[in-house]
Amino acid sequence: MDRIRIVGGRRLTGTIPISGAKNATLPLMIASLLTDQTLILDNVPRLADVALLERILGNHGVDIMVSGKRSGETADHGQTLHISAAHIVDTTAPYELVSRMRASFWVLAPLVARMGQARVSLPGGCAIGTRPVDLLIMAMERLGAQIEIDRGYAVARAPRGLRGAEIVFPKVTVGGTHTAIMAATLAAGTTVIENAAREPEIADVADCLNKMGARISGAGTQRIVVEGVARLGGARHAVLPDRIETGTYAMAVAMAGGDILLQNARPELLQAALDVLQQAGAMVTATNQGIRVARNGGALAPVEVTTAPFPAFPTDLQAQLMALMTRARGTSHIVETVFENRFMHVQELVRLGARIHLQGERATIEGVERLKGAPVMATDLRASVSLVIAALAAEGETIVNRVYHLDRGFERLEDKLGRCGAEIERLSG
Ligand code: EPZ
Repeated sequence: MDRIRIVGGRRLTGTIPISGAKNATLPLMIASLLTDQTLILDNVPRLADVALLERILGNHGVDIMVSGKRSGETADHGQTLHISAAHIVDTTAPYELVSRMRASFWVLAPLVARMGQARVSLPGGCAIGTRPVDLLIMAMERLGAQIEIDRGYAVARAPRGLRGAEIVFPKVTVGGTHTAIMAATLAAGTTVIENAAREPEIADVADCLNKMGARISGAGTQRIVVEGVARLGGARHAVLPDRIETGTYAMAVAMAGGDILLQNARPELLQAALDVLQQAGAMVTATNQGIRVARNGGALAPVEVTTAPFPAFPTDLQAQLMALMTRARGTSHIVETVFENRFMHVQELVRLGARIHLQGERATIEGVERLKGAPVMATDLRASVSLVIAALAAEGETIVNRVYHLDRGFERLEDKLGRCGAEIERLSG
């Protein structure tokens, strides 16, 4: 099992290319199931989760062709996928695949909308929380699907197709909003989605669906209206830059010190996180090539942050911010309100010398003068990268184990950091 070895103490200078967003790529690939025409996606990141979803879609009969390398193209360019769901041969998404990546449960909506049926394994538990799918099932039932839970599978039928409806989400859910939008595009009549998630990835997927012939308005706001159409066509769409990768590397340079251009990053996708970074003492500047982040010598100031749905500070950057705050000059507080168990990185950061204690959903971080390298264990995707951030400022060597978590959501992390001066290498085996 691969590990990553980091020796801390090096400043970061140079450019980090930001890849296409994982959390837009996954629903965009799933949206291909809504049409028998070809969907072309550009700027697709090379991630383990994308490769796994290719396998899952292949199981349904979807053909995916990856464009070959073009002249002048480097590894920093995203890949182009040509996805064709012309012939869906199987409407079952099996447990052994869905249990490895929860977002694959989202195939439920397009399969029912296009084929009138689906049998999708419930995703099961996850390290960061129970993460039920009750609201995704509620949305489908509101649109006329009959769904029963049978031996660990959601078995859905809509023999007469789906009908537009009003869907009111009692809490903000990204997956629920993606599910409602995708199903509504082919439902008969109008669907109104209230208390919709406002994450930028929702608007990116809606933008692509509209290119395919859907009629969606209000994506990115809490009220989305979808006029159903008879069928969708093909389209070409470039995935928006990854705001979580952007925020992660911004926190890395704030931790290590230095001056980095986050190429292709867009500030409006993560303004709350950038505001917190400025409060902490980092210099953040929007440029026409992306976002420049620097910290040269000044101490890190403590912050008070509560995670919440977009546009608030994102839960997917909570672990990374906590790592940064271990070295602040003072005491910080971070409240995690989205997931009920997203503090697994705390004990690993404590192994590096951090001083953190938890009371329920609230973490208190007392900044320390020094962190010391040690072997640590990654538990989930974002927790694993928080350990990398801490290691960049720890004295001596840190070994991050179970690095497959990292590969799920960060493309060539050791290459991107290594090119900017970090002493970091992957140890295979
Ligand atoms: C998406 O997960 C993201 N994944 C997550 O990123 C992200 O942390 C999360 O949104 C919140 O922003 C993708 O986009 C692929 P939710 P999702 O439904 O849709 C509860 C990463 O690291 N809930 O917005 O599963 C749920 O338990 C991942 O890239 C229900 O109760 O999240 C949670 O407490 C981690 N019932 C809250 O809502 C439901 O039916 C928000 O979850 C659905 C959700």
